[in-house]
Amino acid sequence: MGPLVEIAARLAAAAPRFLPARASSVAGDVDRVFAFVFWLSMFFFVLIVALTILFVVRYRRRPGRLEPEPSPSHSTRLELLWTAVPLALVVFLFAWSTRTWLSMTGAPSDGAGRPLEVQVTGRRWSWWFDHPGGKGAAELHVVVNRPAELVLSATDVIHSLYVPEFRLKQDAVPGRFTRLAFTPTAPGTYPILCAEYCGTDHSRMLSSVVVHPDQASFDAWAREGVAADGSLVALGKQVFARKGCVGCHSVDGTRRVGPSLKALWGREEKLADGTVAKVDGEYLRESLVRPGAKVVAGFADVMPPVALEERELQALAAYLQSLAEAP
Ligand code: CUA
Repeated sequence: MGPLVEIAARLAAAAPRFLPARASSVAGDVDRVFAFVFWLSMFFFVLIVALTILFVVRYRRRPGRLEPEPSPSHSTRLELLWTAVPLALVVFLFAWSTRTWLSMTGAPSDGAGRPLEVQVTGRRWSWWFDHPGGKGAAELHVVVNRPAELVLSATDVIHSLYVPEFRLKQDAVPGRFTRLAFTPTAPGTYPILCAEYCGTDHSRMLSSVVVHPDQASFDAWAREGVAADGSLVALGKQVFARKGCVGCHSVDGTRRVGPSLKALWGREEKLADGTVAKVDGEYLRESLVRPGAKVVAGFADVMPPVALEERELQALAAYLQSLAEAP
């Protein structure tokens, strides 16, 4: 395997320039496998097309050559060669890509400190990240050069967490846990996508990963739990963002997966079963705990339950109220 890896490493250096930046420990390995497959395919593509053109031109039917030239019926040596070479190539590719894949699916990280473990929940149609110390957020936060381990699950259907700059993709499956292990190598903010078709707003199931430049920066972020100005409305706004509500509910009247929350508070909402409900604190509580209990007419019953502390619920109510009073 040695010489082939060497060749592949050289090819990776000449990898196509359209790839995104590399920002994790596994990105280099993934790119090497990709570059190897890419250039291998290129080589055979050019070889086969060139030979096809050559043969078509050279052996075409011409006046004076209407019958095919005599040729051997088969060549054992040639057949062995064109069987053995592709076989060796695919076995090599299988071994190499499996090793790369295993390195990112949660094999215990060797030595470099306790990994930062984050619980990831996929749901229609947003991501939720529970960080150590109890901080939940709609974005993933990690620390540069500190190994991270993600434990993924989903509440409804299969989603897939995809971070192109990390070269990482893993399914989030209801009823089981999947893992991703990596070390971020460059501070910055990178996009997160859902890579498994999961319904109406699949393409908008976006988030981002923030790679902190050091542990202190991460700790500072993980500590900040209360709004700067301490008001209930500010906390409510924060809860609204942190719990991922914003993925399905706009606050400016735009229709998304769920009803917009603009001017909603105190209104009489028409429900799917034909009855009417007044939007107040109790309605809000019930809609969070049992979202299917009172579904607004014209919307699908797709919201997952959202667990809130009592103060968060009060804050959210205050925020909705402030939205109704806004001009
Ligand atoms: Cu979640 Cu596609």
